[in-house]
Amino acid sequence: MPVSRREFIAGLTLGGAVAGLGFSFFSGVAGSTSTGRSLVSRAPLPEPFTQRLRIPPVLAPVRSDGDGDHYEITQRVAAAQILPGVSTTIWGYNGIFPGPTIESRSGRTISVTHTNELPIPTVVHLHGGRTPPEHDGYPIDFVLPVDRDVPLPVYAIESGDLSKGQRIHWYPLEQPATTLWYHDHRLDFTGPGVWKGLAGFHIVRDDEEDALGLPSGPRELPLMILDRSFDVDGSWLYPAIDPTGLGEVGVTDGFEAGVFGDVLLVNGVPWPIVNVDGARYRLRFLNASNARRYDLRLDPPPPDGFVQIGTDGGLLVEPLHHDHIEMAPAQRFDVIVDFSSYQPGTNVTLVNDFASGRMAQVMRFVVGARTDDDSRIPNRLTTIEPLDTTAEGVITRTMRFFSGHLTDNNTDRHRWLINGEPFGPDVAAARPALDSVEIWRLVSDFHHPIHIHLNPFQVLSRGSGGPGPYDMGWKDTIDLRPFEHAAIAVRFDGFRGRYVFHCHNLEHEDMAMMSNFVVT
Ligand code: C2O
Ligand code: CU
Repeated sequence: MPVSRREFIAGLTLGGAVAGLGFSFFSGVAGSTSTGRSLVSRAPLPEPFTQRLRIPPVLAPVRSDGDGDHYEITQRVAAAQILPGVSTTIWGYNGIFPGPTIESRSGRTISVTHTNELPIPTVVHLHGGRTPPEHDGYPIDFVLPVDRDVPLPVYAIESGDLSKGQRIHWYPLEQPATTLWYHDHRLDFTGPGVWKGLAGFHIVRDDEEDALGLPSGPRELPLMILDRSFDVDGSWLYPAIDPTGLGEVGVTDGFEAGVFGDVLLVNGVPWPIVNVDGARYRLRFLNASNARRYDLRLDPPPPDGFVQIGTDGGLLVEPLHHDHIEMAPAQRFDVIVDFSSYQPGTNVTLVNDFASGRMAQVMRFVVGARTDDDSRIPNRLTTIEPLDTTAEGVITRTMRFFSGHLTDNNTDRHRWLINGEPFGPDVAAARPALDSVEIWRLVSDFHHPIHIHLNPFQVLSRGSGGPGPYDMGWKDTIDLRPFEHAAIAVRFDGFRGRYVFHCHNLEHEDMAMMSNFVVT
């Protein structure tokens, strides 16, 4: 039986609250881009660029009425063909990995009814959604398995909003067009849940974006990039202390910094290859990895590089050119690539400069003949009002994302903490007033991709400088690097209630680097 969070907090020893810098996994980290440890697959791995890219199917609503569009998803165990010759048992939304893509319209409410046929409780969160608190997928609001009883942790029994078998999530989607994603968010077990397949795209569209004339239809590719490892029989490898996902929390020694796979999957296909026309394409990059960061580059490079048009929370004000893109877990980069600038027949490889060997390769585009292309990239994409942080009474808070030691039943455990505290349903690091703008100063000891639910934010500064090249627009996840501090501005609006913010390195999240804010 997992310990209750209250016992956990009671066990916090004062002197040990923040003592993290001596850990072995910090050695070699300084200045490096590594945010985890690699788990070596035991299955034979395919040659890169031998399997075709697949695009996850778009889910059709089961019905539409005056309340909106209604969707149904069943979470279940299924067999997937990922590596050649073996099958992988996944936990999948509708039994597929990635899950089906939901496409919605800004301002049109949808409901998604999730049925849980998995052997463990689950929680569904729409990442980047402006969602009322009871529908946001609070980490202890479990959907229990439909057909069995499972042991429950004390914190869920005490304060979770539990439902048996099924739950309806309502999403108002009062937010601009962008790339969202939905994924498992169960307290303490998000890492293994997402690793086993519980992740899918949710694309929000609107009239403003439709009017821009960006590449669309078959020239718009959602690309979910992640890393996984496989056992010899094709099953997922993950270093959980308790592989049932019902008992002790966390990963085995040496993986506390994060779990890296040694197989690169795009939309569930290892190192895929795709034929593209000689034309502009819109690529919606999502880093759905547990812990891995990527530095994406095209080889050979197109003259315009990646033309970034959007990020986590929607379109940028104007397009931004990058010759490479650094992407932390949970972040999205919406980019245009002009394949007409290549000779037909060119192999263009998407590479990852944060890794070497196989993991330095992501996928390949094979460029076809130049074709008609009436798409455009306007110089002006949208308007973004800078949040006013100069008004009187703007509250500034400091959030420290540091590792530490907790004493739990006389065992000394390494945990990742926020302001010296592990997650607990009753611990609120902030109580912002509805409609107020706040400045949060984020301070880190390691790579921490920090994600805030409900409201996107604007990056004000990094260290003593301005925002970095990947910080433009509305973000919901900021890539903090070791010993860095950054300031962000958030307007807390939409709904009152309790939400979480956390590190989106899923091993850090599961090992307590999460807290609450309560909009009052
Ligand atoms: Cu993508 Cu709190 O999550
Ligand atoms: Cu972290």
